[in-house]
Amino acid sequence: MSNKTKVTIIGGCGHVGLPLGIILADSPNFEVTQLDIDDKKIAQVNAGEMPFMEEGMEPILRKVASRTLRATSDMGCLESADVVISVIGTPVDRHLNPLLKEIHRHADQTIERMKDDALLIMRSTLYPGVTKLIYDRIKMRKRNIHLAVCPERILQGKALYEVPELPQIVGAFEKEAERRAGEFFKRITKTVIYVHPLEAEFGKLMVNSWRYLDFANANQFYILCQRYGLDFYRIFEAFRYEYPRMKTWPKAGFSAGPCLLKDTLQLCAFSNNLFSLGSQALVVNESLPNFIIERLQPANLAGHTVAILGMAFKGNCDDKRDSLAYKLKNLLKVYAKEVYCTDPHVPDADLVPLEKALEAEVIILGAPHAVYADLQFPKEKIVVDVFGFWPRTEVRFDKAVPIGNLVQISD
Ligand SMILES: NC(=O)c1ccc[n+]([C@@H]2O[C@H](COP(=O)([O-])OP(=O)(O)OC[C@H]3O[C@@H](n4cnc5c(N)ncnc54)[C@H](O)[C@@H]3O)[C@@H](O)[C@H]2O)c1
Repeated sequence: MSNKTKVTIIGGCGHVGLPLGIILADSPNFEVTQLDIDDKKIAQVNAGEMPFMEEGMEPILRKVASRTLRATSDMGCLESADVVISVIGTPVDRHLNPLLKEIHRHADQTIERMKDDALLIMRSTLYPGVTKLIYDRIKMRKRNIHLAVCPERILQGKALYEVPELPQIVGAFEKEAERRAGEFFKRITKTVIYVHPLEAEFGKLMVNSWRYLDFANANQFYILCQRYGLDFYRIFEAFRYEYPRMKTWPKAGFSAGPCLLKDTLQLCAFSNNLFSLGSQALVVNESLPNFIIERLQPANLAGHTVAILGMAFKGNCDDKRDSLAYKLKNLLKVYAKEVYCTDPHVPDADLVPLEKALEAEVIILGAPHAVYADLQFPKEKIVVDVFGFWPRTEVRFDKAVPIGNLVQISD
């Protein structure tokens, strides 16, 4: 009989569940089952193939697949697990409130199958109060299951380095659950920090909103500068140089993906829409594609071919979930003669090869992939790079007419 801890990860073939499962399976203490509903990803994982990009993970997956890690859609694996980790997507309705029916259904089918004295860890980003609903469900059914909420904080693509390094937040209503969850994470990470479950849930939303606001801040100043006919990156570089208080400022760029916007909006909904900075950040970040169109002047676009280089929601990533490059594509399809989209990482049958995209007269950077770093463009092309990714000699909206108060005042 193996004395390893049996772990089942629900949502185990996803962006959070799979890296965690691989790291656990690669340590001597665990036997890991990745429970998922996606048969294609299950087959890939069992064959030792990553279904998405995650730095350094595939060689480890190849090593552990079908040994200490397996993927399945059979919920029977919940019955023998000592620890169940739930990391499925966290659905919200169109008003951004949690879908209670879904949460109850998921909680019930999990609790029902888990064995007595097992530990249930909620690792998804949860709307504040959801862990309490699950806790009440466990108590109502008189089950002896220990519940903790331990939000994931990794940067997508960097799990291999961040899971062992980042302090783990643990929240539980009962001491025994807190102790067990703490002991569990101490086996894979250095520091565990204990908080109340509501603090764990709220804190995770706060961190993601913080980052979303940070990007909105940069994007707001970018838009302001461009409107005044100023080059944001000249100012950014000049004022940031050897000035410690600006070191953490991000550059401008598309702020998108499956987490930051969703979680900022969850906090807006939770606060009865009184989180006004969060709502404003949405307006700013989501307006960047519209701003690009405005500066390129829709009337002129009609006669031009335009290309978007990079369709993922961020650089060096293959994930297109909620990518603003797609929003830009949809806007361009209204105004431009033709739109070419390209990305070496994103699986999408509508994309064209880079060489074809480079034939366009207007080139817009949609995601700053490292593979684009050395591209050079002929002088006659209009190149739009809101990320400040290419060297600053590139043309940046130089055909745009400066507008804004300065112009009005001097008139
Ligand atoms: N992506 C990130 O970098 C990141 C970071 C921190 C936290 N989170 C949070 O983690 C959660 C999951 O995000 P993700 O990016 O991994 O999502 P994902 O869509 O990549 O993964 C979710 C997985 O769950 C599976 N699934 C859905 N319903 C299921 C069910 N009933 N039973 C079993 N499997 C099921 C899906 O098939 C998918 O493989 C979300 O709450 C997200 O906000 C994500």
